[in-house]
Parts: sequence; C-alpha cells; structure tokens
Amino acid sequence: MIDQLLWVIFPYVCMAFFVFGHFYRYKHDQFSWTAKSSEFIEKKQLMIGSLLFHIGIIPVIFGHISGLGIPKEWMRALGVNDHLYHIGAVYIGGFFGIVTLAGMLLLTTRRLAKHNVRKLSATSDIIVNVLLLTIVFLGVYATLVTNHAVPDFDYRQSISVWFRGLLIFNPDASLMTDVPLTFKMHVLFGFLIFGLWPFTRLVHVWSVPLNYVGRSYILYRRHQRK
Ligand code: HEM
Repeated sequence: MIDQLLWVIFPYVCMAFFVFGHFYRYKHDQFSWTAKSSEFIEKKQLMIGSLLFHIGIIPVIFGHISGLGIPKEWMRALGVNDHLYHIGAVYIGGFFGIVTLAGMLLLTTRRLAKHNVRKLSATSDIIVNVLLLTIVFLGVYATLVTNHAVPDFDYRQSISVWFRGLLIFNPDASLMTDVPLTFKMHVLFGFLIFGLWPFTRLVHVWSVPLNYVGRSYILYRRHQRK
C-alpha cells in the first residue's frame, strides 16, 4: 500500500498539479509570472550562483532524459555499452552535478544570509531554494557515493523502468522497493518540486528571460502624447 502511495499516487498527483497548476496560474495570476529577480539588492553572488546553477542544470537535464528515458538495450544498439554509460554518468554527470550544487549553495546562502534579500523573499522562494539544494545534493550524493557503495544496484533497471512506466500509465511500484534510500528521496523530492512548480517563481523557466543578463535595473519609457 505504501509503495503504491509513494510510487504511483504521489507522482501522478504532482504531475497533475504541474499541468493544471500552470493553466490556473496563467489564467488567474499572470501578472506575477516572473523570476522576481533580486539583483538590485545584491548582484555579484547572484550572478556567480545563478550562472553556475544554470550551466550545471542544463547538461544534468539531458543526462536525466538519456538515463531515464532511453532503455539500456537502445543505448547498447547505439554503441554505448554499460561500462561507457557508467563512466559518462559518473564523471560527466558528477562534474555538472557539482557545478549545479555549487551554484545552488551560493544562491541559498545568499537568500538566507543577506538580510535584504531574505526580507524580500516569500516563503515559496525559500522553499524552492532549500528544496532544490536538497534534490541536487541527493542527486550528486547518489551518483558519486551510493553508486559506489552499492555496486550491484543499477538504476537503469529499476528507477528508469518504473519512470517510463509512469509516463505510459503503466507504473510498477515494486521496481522501487529495493532502491537505495538516497535515490528514493531524490526522486520523491524531485516530483515534489514539479508539483509546487506552477505556484513558485520557477514558472520563469517557460519565459526564458535571457534579457535579464544585459538589461538595466529600471526601464524608462517615453510618454506618448496623443
Ligand atoms: C523527478 C524525477 C527525477 C528522477 C527520477 C531523477 C533520477 C536521478 C537519477 C537516477 C540520478 C543518478 C544518475 C547517475 O547516477 O548517473 C540523478 C542524479 C541527479 N539528479 Fe535527478 N531525478 C529527478 C529529478 C531531479 C531534479 C528535479 C533535479 C534538480 C533540480 C535533479 C538533479 C540531479 C542531479 C544534480 C544529479 C547528479 C548529477 C547527475 O548524475 O546528473 N534531479 N537523478
């Protein structure tokens, strides 16, 4: 029963919140659809932290798509044997994971320790930072430590198969029963952040606000006389 709750009901509830929450937010609260930048309070740490986080997370996303989405047999057919995959996942995944973690650590300490940034933060901003930090830490820990500590464990035969089952509405919760705790927590917190996503500043991802990099703090617009 608990396995069904954690590995079937909970992920679907989070996915439903993710999809319908975005529709709701877009329809009812479009004005607050923003990254809520705090760069006018503190710029240097934000720039370094944000750059590290974003440089790290993009390859990590591609790693998740290939590790979770592409079956082992297809990888082998493409010429990527298990050993090669493992080396890539640990070294490349580990490297970009650490870059993401460094960025997230900087962003979270900045948000909590800088008085004015903290005062400007809503509860949801703090939850997003702490949750992302926890997820990224657990992901890096699982990749670099758990994979070595439990060498017989292969997430591509358990987590990945379960994950693809979820996407085709045929999940098998029993595949997750013997997964090490660090991976389990990483996955559960991962789904949680997707469930909370539409109600936080993370919605800015869909607007790709690249103009933030070079924009002015304040925009002056000429008053158009009729
Ligand atoms: C929602 C479902 C998710 C699943 C099923 C999942 C699964 C995994 C797995 C299996 C690994 C280990 C990869 C390896 O050992 O080679 C991993 C690592 C990692 N995950 Fe996730 N993850 C999820 C969500 C997230 C989210 C939302 C984030 C970040 C915001 C994230 C960040 C990371 C990082 C930084 C690593 C370590 C670097 C890497 O191996 O790519 N994950 N994840």
